[in-house]
Amino acid sequence: MTDQIDNVLHETRVFAPSAEFAATASLTAAEYQTRYERSLQDPDGFWGEVAGELSWMKPWERVLDWQEPHAQWFVGGQTNIAFNALDRHVAQGLGNKRALIWEGEDGEVRTLTYSELLGEVKRSANALTALGVVAGDRVTLYLPLIPEAAIAMLACARIGAVHSVVFGGFSVGALSDRINDAQSKLLITADAGYRRGQPVNLKANADEAAARTPTLEHVLVVRRAGTPVTMQAGRDLWWHEALAEAEAEHEAAALDAEHPLFVLYTSGSTGKPKGVLHTTGGYMVGTYLTTKTVFDLKPDDVFWCTADIGWVTGHSYTVYGPLLNGATVLMYEGAPNHPDWGRFWQIIQKHGVTILYTAPTAIRAFMRQGDAIPAAYDLSSLRLLGSVGEPINPEAWMWYRRAIGGDRCPVIDTWWQTETGAIMLTTLPGAHPAKPGTAGLPMYGIDAAIVNREGEELGPDEGGLLVIRKPWPSMLRTVYGDDERYRKAYWGEIPHVYFAGDGARKDADGYITVMGRVDDVLSVSGHRLGTMEIESALVAHPSVAEAAVVGKPDDLKGECVVAFVLPQAGQTVDPVALRAYVVSQIGALARPDAIYIADALPKTRSGKIMRRFLRQIAAGRAIEGDTSTLEDPGVLERLAATAGV
Ligand code: WTA
Repeated sequence: MTDQIDNVLHETRVFAPSAEFAATASLTAAEYQTRYERSLQDPDGFWGEVAGELSWMKPWERVLDWQEPHAQWFVGGQTNIAFNALDRHVAQGLGNKRALIWEGEDGEVRTLTYSELLGEVKRSANALTALGVVAGDRVTLYLPLIPEAAIAMLACARIGAVHSVVFGGFSVGALSDRINDAQSKLLITADAGYRRGQPVNLKANADEAAARTPTLEHVLVVRRAGTPVTMQAGRDLWWHEALAEAEAEHEAAALDAEHPLFVLYTSGSTGKPKGVLHTTGGYMVGTYLTTKTVFDLKPDDVFWCTADIGWVTGHSYTVYGPLLNGATVLMYEGAPNHPDWGRFWQIIQKHGVTILYTAPTAIRAFMRQGDAIPAAYDLSSLRLLGSVGEPINPEAWMWYRRAIGGDRCPVIDTWWQTETGAIMLTTLPGAHPAKPGTAGLPMYGIDAAIVNREGEELGPDEGGLLVIRKPWPSMLRTVYGDDERYRKAYWGEIPHVYFAGDGARKDADGYITVMGRVDDVLSVSGHRLGTMEIESALVAHPSVAEAAVVGKPDDLKGECVVAFVLPQAGQTVDPVALRAYVVSQIGALARPDAIYIADALPKTRSGKIMRRFLRQIAAGRAIEGDTSTLEDPGVLERLAATAGV
């Protein structure tokens, strides 16, 4: 953890819900308060009622069984999240409602009603079963953002297979590590996806990964781009052919509430990425309730969460949360600037999007392009704007509200994590005033506090560590295959509470501002990257002996990657080649913005790299703090000179 938690300037602007929004809002601030208090005092009663709004094949016996740090929710109950997301709505007469509107980067549009989506998911479930996939088996998905991504996730859920989605922008190394860690039996990929008009050859990466992943038995390939692929006989099958042979009818499996639903890998401060494990019942209840409440969902909403399904935001708010609520989801395959920076606004205008949920990094990029671009489109269908993934600076917040929301739409800033499964902190758009740059209040059942390292609660406006003091239904259950790491990373840092890894403060109104990570995790364009992961990739290159990676503040990306590398004796480091090597090991998102060649790294006498000083050098700041514990204090001056400080 870093030694300092930066405090930022106080924001004084406050935006009350508009009379128009509040008029149709499902609840008032007072009602939120009453429900929130009840959710903490009577969690069994509260969560039992919420879960009761969904369908269960067998009722639960106990709402919560808490043996710190392990929670079991809806113990003894059986359900199926895909059934709740699809069959339930079709049975209630929503079969002809649009479930999914998909727009490809090339402009192709596909629309699936709830009946049609259910039909596809049933066939896919049968196809997976025919390939020998059974409940509990892991299935890795490496797909573009196409309807088949959601269909494959729901098909896994329907039969109780555990999906592990790997973002299509990750490279072979990251993909094969994740397949091996999960020991997946099946990989579902596509020939290629589109990114800025260019096909990205996923199948070629999948082939390379499959050569290193002994547990894989089959590779199912969706035809998206029509690009040539090599199909390995006996191993590879076309998705459309497998579906054509599959039966149309399928009954969703009755699964225990604690049956694993998915593993999603995310970066931590140490070691390789962690497989965050979520289970069926609690995750279902958490994503259902937060989508409904936080977005104040209405039956005719067109809900667009721009996140790729490779991230948790795509899991919870592109797929599960909105479908569990019977909403119409918009899904867009490509880049925000293809063919130009008006693409998002054109999509909103064309499809009548009412709720937009996106990331600060995208908002900052749009802001830089100027107001004239969004102003050229009719954005009047929008009624609510959301932000997620990293702290949003007040200027970007204000721009989002004005240039996109026409000063009419509330803006919500939602804080949560892969581990939390669902939104934890936010304002409710029809009930609470919003403060730019501040996430807001805890959602139902979330007992959030700001504490010091000893776990003592801090006073108003004091910067500290964000913790959650009680279990909640959509919390991660463990780190896949490494429960010890789960205990240590989340429940072992501060006694008896969940430690999120973020620095935060709470104001006198109880609003929480999340300031950023306090560990060695970077947020690059809102994507989590462990410094350790990038360092491992660097030292895997033959020219590098040692490496240290830090984040540097970046106006657009939030943070960018800066690497200090020590060459192997007798070798020279070529920064261009090294950068390309990191991309091939992890993916483009980990590409270092700067690589500085060093003759030594600042280490303590015990050999620990003091990244704090490297952060200062990377940011071009003067060295501050006690350098006396360094083995060789002179190293800082030499590094600063190399970095041009
Ligand atoms: C950061 C994304 C400030 C935070 C859903 C967290 C935020 C990490 C916010 C989780 C926000 C997310 N304000 N910071 N509204 N939302 N973060 O797992 O550092 O990809 O710990 O989940 O993103 O990233 P993850």
